[in-house]
Amino acid sequence: MKLAVVILAAGQGKRMKSDLPKVLQPLAGRPLLWHVVTRARSLEPASMHVVFGHGGDQVRAALAHENLQWALQAEQLGTGHAVMQAMPTVSDDSLVLILYGDVPLIRADTLRALIAVAGPKAMSLLTVVLADPTGYGRIVRRGKAIQRIVEQKDAKPAQLRIREGNSGIMAVPARLLKKWLGQLRNSNAQGEYYLTDIVAMAVKDKVKVTPIVAPTTAEVLGVNDKAQLAQIEALHRAERARELMLAGATLADPARIDVRGDVALGRDVFIDANVLFEGKVTLGDRVRIGSNVVLRNVSIGADGVIHPNSVLEQSELGAGCIIGPYARLRPGSKLGAGVHIGNFVELKKAVVGDGSKANHLTYLGDAVVGKGVNIGAGTITCNYDGVNKSTTTIDDGAFIGSGNMLVAPVRIGKEATTGAGSTITKDAPDGKLTLTRGKQTTLEGWKRPEKKQTGKKET
Ligand code: UD1
Ligand code: CA
Repeated sequence: MKLAVVILAAGQGKRMKSDLPKVLQPLAGRPLLWHVVTRARSLEPASMHVVFGHGGDQVRAALAHENLQWALQAEQLGTGHAVMQAMPTVSDDSLVLILYGDVPLIRADTLRALIAVAGPKAMSLLTVVLADPTGYGRIVRRGKAIQRIVEQKDAKPAQLRIREGNSGIMAVPARLLKKWLGQLRNSNAQGEYYLTDIVAMAVKDKVKVTPIVAPTTAEVLGVNDKAQLAQIEALHRAERARELMLAGATLADPARIDVRGDVALGRDVFIDANVLFEGKVTLGDRVRIGSNVVLRNVSIGADGVIHPNSVLEQSELGAGCIIGPYARLRPGSKLGAGVHIGNFVELKKAVVGDGSKANHLTYLGDAVVGKGVNIGAGTITCNYDGVNKSTTTIDDGAFIGSGNMLVAPVRIGKEATTGAGSTITKDAPDGKLTLTRGKQTTLEGWKRPEKKQTGKKET
């Protein structure tokens, strides 16, 4: 059967005490709903439908680039009513998988297992066994067979002792789902149209209902307040750290790494404590990342070393580069092999050739640096005249003395040397020493000024 995923996301999330709709609260830097959509997407469904209500425009805008069909639930009359809103655009011959915008850690494998036992005449649901199932609908069984789900507020004392709860996640054939949704009544403790009532209808119609117990409780946890959000963040962090370790990385402390994106790893990568990855990060073989490093959309070639407290963004590094400590690579930096960028060095749109070094206190912005260049401490490319950005070009083998101001546009020739403390405003020729310093003089007989003796006390 073709798969239609329906994600319920109409709830307000009052307990978040936030102006941001609940399903847009961030997990690893992205909306909760994005995580659900992304995990569901991996099942390659024929269509995905999101039922929205509160903060509708904001929710739609945040997921505008996703291919989703949106269904408005103007009033929150219950989960059954919510699913009903999506049904007009779901074809009868599909299998409907119901997910929740605030249950972000659900695993694709679990969903596959659920789908596998559902079909045109069979539904399945995901249950969870909890020490304290308070708040959950309870799974009422007779022997092994499921009879119905009873909501907490409608349950008799004996039913409240059942520890198997309803996760809410279900796989139901569309044709039957539509029929059952049409039969829902709201004569219950909450006056709501309960999706859960379809289980008893299925049993009555002799449709097979297979409950599957969730392999982990984490994946069915919902988010209702900021404390639960932090708990989910920690679980997600642990999950991503585990993925890195299973991919071969050695982590100094799996509890102190945040992966907010996708990381591709070579072999024998080492990552120290308090490292943050965002976007697409690629680490080659034997790369070592020091503590307190932030990498955002960065690729690092084999044997690269990033020393502590460095921040690298939208940059590409060849093999064997050594960066930091305290280095900053801003967007558009592209380093060849064996480049050294040391402490308090900032790069922006800088292309640096193989083996070149800028080891101390330097700014290279809009710069094209060749191979084997040495840039002395405290050198600055003056790339901005207040209106325009200009390029500084430094050719292969050049040696820039310490404390140079390279006023762009300017070119330093091949194998050229510039003297320390020079302000270079015109191109420096190949192979020669260029310097722009006044001659050093010493004034004979010069004395330090002395305080005048006025007799008055200074105030
Ligand atoms: C629901 C289940 C319960 C289950 C529990 C798991 C029903 C009747 N009960 O209870 O068996 O154990 O989830 O957390 O289904 N929503 C809408 N529109 C609505 C109502 C809800 O979109 O009109 C969305 C909410 O945003 C939320 C989800 O559906 O994401 C669940 O709603 P909630 O009110 O939290 O259901 P519970 O009462 O917790
Ligand atoms: Ca809930």
